[in-house]
Amino acid sequence: MRVAITGANSGIGLRAVRRFAESGADVIALSRSRERGELAIATLQPEARARVRLVELDLASPVSIAGAAETVVADGPLDVLINNAAVFDLSAREARFTETGQELFWATNHLGPTEFTARVSGALAAAPSPRVVFVASKGLVTMPGLAIRFDALTDGSWFTPTKAYYHSKLAQVMTAVTLAERVGDLVDVSCLRVPAVRLDADRLAEQPPILRALYAPKNRLAMPAEALADVYVDLGAGAPRHPRGSDVYVDEKRRVVALPRSARDAAQRERLWSVTAEATGNPAWAWEAAGRPTGRSRVD
Ligand SMILES: NC(=O)c1ccc[n+]([C@@H]2O[C@H](COP(=O)([O-])OP(=O)(O)OC[C@H]3O[C@@H](n4cnc5c(N)ncnc54)[C@H](OP(=O)(O)O)[C@@H]3O)[C@@H](O)[C@H]2O)c1
Repeated sequence: MRVAITGANSGIGLRAVRRFAESGADVIALSRSRERGELAIATLQPEARARVRLVELDLASPVSIAGAAETVVADGPLDVLINNAAVFDLSAREARFTETGQELFWATNHLGPTEFTARVSGALAAAPSPRVVFVASKGLVTMPGLAIRFDALTDGSWFTPTKAYYHSKLAQVMTAVTLAERVGDLVDVSCLRVPAVRLDADRLAEQPPILRALYAPKNRLAMPAEALADVYVDLGAGAPRHPRGSDVYVDEKRRVVALPRSARDAAQRERLWSVTAEATGNPAWAWEAAGRPTGRSRVD
């Protein structure tokens, strides 16, 4: 089994690399920084380490996405892709933009993972029963009215890190539903609603003192990253789920949970799909290239 995990150098991603490699899977550990990736992989036991290949991937850079995807595809069939990486830098005071003019959270947490999934879809399609896992956040339940800002996607005026983060995570839930509908039985698509999870000490240390102090009690009560890594392994290699649409969205116990309102809206989902395709240069999806019908909505 071959598994690719983004954001593999820390937190849940690193624990998932360890769990998959220890279970005998070959793991492509995708890390924005080669140095941080090497340091992280060096913490694995030698046998697990031997199963891991480090590949650089910056999800905010289309050039990096294309290069990493080419490497993954050249490696052969890919059984599991886990879109784990995300930016949620709460200290960001104003919107930052990528070289292509996209807001950074939107690019990293939504456009990048979606484009990367499309670009490695040929390798997924070559695997006998491929799976794709998207990663969202339980915090979305506190924003039931949240909708995609189609009118202002590249407008930094409404930016706060919290809004930008949940906006991008909502987009990942919507994308998971659309993809599941489009691929039917060809791919097992899940989107995990991650609850509060303990951050690595070095990640917390990067935050300004005020945020560190605010985060400390939450971090103590949060779930260990290892527990979520077990859920990634379960979604990637446990009993198949065969989700059809709304049932892509699960919690840490693999229970199907209610979709955010916007994710239940087929028109909003289709609009997001086409806006995303346009922003990412219309990458081809293996299943569409094979003439797979896009199917009708089973969610509304
Ligand atoms: N922790 C929580 O309470 C919580 C709650 C809900 C959902 N989640 C979700 O769970 C997932 C894992 O989070 P975590 O808790 O394990 O946090 P983490 O330790 O901060 O991991 C995030 C990973 O994403 C990577 N990343 C950030 N920007 C990137 C970019 N431009 N390109 C490629 N990789 C990039 C980071 O790499 P660098 O080291 O290079 O920055 C890091 O490896 C995320 O999707 C997060 O949204 C977490």
